[in-house]
Amino acid sequence: MAKDKKNWKLATRLVHGYDGDPETGATAPPIYQTTAFAHETAKEISDIFNNREFGYAYSRVANPSIVALEAHITSVEEARASVGVSTGMGATSIAIQALVRPGDHIVTGNSLFGGTYYLFQELIENNGITVSFVEATDVAAYEAAITTDTKAIFCETIGNPKLDVPDIAAISQIAQAHNVPFIVDSTTATKYLIDLKGLGVSVSVQSATKWLGGQGTTIAGLIVDLGNYKWTESKSPSVLEMSKKMGDFAFIARCKKLRSNLGVALAPMSAFMIQSGMETLCLRFEKQCHNALKVAEFLDAHPKVIKVSYPGLKTDPFHDVAKRQFTNGVFGGLLTFQLADKAACFSCIDKLNIVKNLANLGDNKSLAIHPESTIYRDISKEEKDAAGSLQNLIRFSAGLESAEDIILDLEQALS
Ligand SMILES: Cc1ncc(COP(=O)(O)O)c(C=O)c1O
Repeated sequence: MAKDKKNWKLATRLVHGYDGDPETGATAPPIYQTTAFAHETAKEISDIFNNREFGYAYSRVANPSIVALEAHITSVEEARASVGVSTGMGATSIAIQALVRPGDHIVTGNSLFGGTYYLFQELIENNGITVSFVEATDVAAYEAAITTDTKAIFCETIGNPKLDVPDIAAISQIAQAHNVPFIVDSTTATKYLIDLKGLGVSVSVQSATKWLGGQGTTIAGLIVDLGNYKWTESKSPSVLEMSKKMGDFAFIARCKKLRSNLGVALAPMSAFMIQSGMETLCLRFEKQCHNALKVAEFLDAHPKVIKVSYPGLKTDPFHDVAKRQFTNGVFGGLLTFQLADKAACFSCIDKLNIVKNLANLGDNKSLAIHPESTIYRDISKEEKDAAGSLQNLIRFSAGLESAEDIILDLEQALS
């Protein structure tokens, strides 16, 4: 078995995320479906609780199935370390909460997934945090919004559902110049599409529920410390304090502590499902990106479609930055299109046969939804507009079906 993984390419890292069980030869990671772990002596379990020995005591705190998934994503992202949690929202929530205290400030791009908007609302209303929402692709706006209390900068790699693409390297430079950690939600891109570590990002959060897992069976979230930020120089007191013991692993240690305290542990079976899905990410993502481009081109030429947003279209305003920033010559599996009005969107969705009307992304199956009346139901018109959640817009996530069949389905639904 190859031991030196340093030079492995992404596809190899994805497939060989688990080294195998030396005792049995099993090539799939075991599922440690247990609440707790028994020990021979009282001292043994006490040493684990007190961090004097590495080991397992209770699955809310640590479980080998979760550790296996964390090692897998750390290898895939060539990162410092990772934390697996119960949902993508759990990942964003913990990564932010690890850094802030009441009175602190966050700068975020305004093109955000609805759940992330609701999280920021919660932090503002009940946790004493102030949040500046800036135009997500306006690099200078991030810098202008930074204050002495700013503890994190946040954005998405491809805004969901606005489909805008911020210049990640440029925002990274600003974050570094001000010694503020830069957290990027890379759910819609994954490592297949973007090298966030190479672009200087501090932390990536991902809903593994989507493209990473891929099957539409499992909810999970990942926080990945990409190794670019010196946590020993953190401006967040809790992380700085933690760094006295943990050095640059302080952020990850703080996230693990919050995972346990807030109770967002990932189920062992879910970790296994995500790891199994990750093995085929390259194949799936490549096909989904190709299908998305074909669908975007079809919709772009359709007389009933007012506008298509997809960074893979040469006419798209974000095509150039996406081309520069994205790897593998593809542009993601997500697109949106606008019809005459909300009624036209509902009618189109109702007529779809192959494409499923549901609230997920990155499934093997093609999916469509009307975000404005569902995911974004509870935010202001201004915020909806900023996030690109318009009344006449349908979000489409390309699956693995034949592109021809997807297009025929859309064609009859638009007729
Ligand atoms: C960009 C983005 N981030 C985070 C999430 C939240 O993920 P989860 O549903 O796994 O909590 C989603 C869910 O759709 C998403 O699209």
